[in-house]
Amino acid sequence: MRHLMSPLDFSVEELDQLLDLAGDIEANPEKYAHACAGKKLATLFYEPSTRTRLSHEAAMLNLGGSVLGFSSADSSSAAKGESVADTIRMVSCYADICAIRHPKEGAPMVAAQHSSIPVINAGDGGHQHPTQTLTDLLTIRSLKGHLDNLKIGLCGDLKFGRTVHSLINALVRYDNIEFVLISPEELRLPGYVRKDVLDKNHIPYKEVVRLEEALPDLDLLYMTRVQRERFFNEEDYVRMKDFYILDKKKMELAPPDMLVLHPLPRVNEISVEVDDDPRAVYFKQVQYGVYVRMALILTLLDIHVD
Ligand code: NCD
Repeated sequence: MRHLMSPLDFSVEELDQLLDLAGDIEANPEKYAHACAGKKLATLFYEPSTRTRLSHEAAMLNLGGSVLGFSSADSSSAAKGESVADTIRMVSCYADICAIRHPKEGAPMVAAQHSSIPVINAGDGGHQHPTQTLTDLLTIRSLKGHLDNLKIGLCGDLKFGRTVHSLINALVRYDNIEFVLISPEELRLPGYVRKDVLDKNHIPYKEVVRLEEALPDLDLLYMTRVQRERFFNEEDYVRMKDFYILDKKKMELAPPDMLVLHPLPRVNEISVEVDDDPRAVYFKQVQYGVYVRMALILTLLDIHVD
């Protein structure tokens, strides 16, 4: 039985297959419409979510399966003090696969250790968010045509942003990848990611504070919001929250084929006036998120459609 805790749980070849499957699902959705008939997905969300929960659910429904779950810790027995380990033992009796989001780093791993069904990490604290990474990889591969030879700007809250941590882990396995880390001093990429992932894999990167400095030679700009819920005090958040605002004027500095991605939700870091720019692909990214989660569910349940 397989789980998905980190994007590294799949080899590059397996990821290629998964993305190919997502591409086939996009092209031939009717072929997959009943692939999961009789199967159930449980979504256990101990932290707020819109896209991640709904896209897992939409993915299972598109495959002809059904869904059950809870969308906040308050409405589950966690409020009564039940452990994740006990909850997953029980959910294993109700469903065939589950997606779990939790504010504590490592909670989905604990769930996986006590589960008899595949567990998908749908975001654990400031640690990892592997299904967002699958979404990002499919978006990049579909719209750029390749996952190698890219200069990628990562901008915003690189300290707490789990989507950034997972994406870096995944991308360092491709050839000729270079990063520009754009953040305020206080929200720099954690040292363990710089050392254990970037340095260890000999990935060239530079750290800059000004977005304007990075924009002119990027293939891709990955914007993120400042992660308010991970700050110790509101004052620091308020000071940081509008540090970056990508607007039309700044987009004039960017190459004509630079893509702008964002895992969403957006707060103020991308002005709505950028939404109409053909380089802004964050809403397309949402659609790719459904295809890739369909491919993931099929892969983890070991269901093959001819
Ligand atoms: C991200 C997350 O939850 O980490 N959202 C998402 O799942 N698309 C990004 C964020 O919340 O900023």
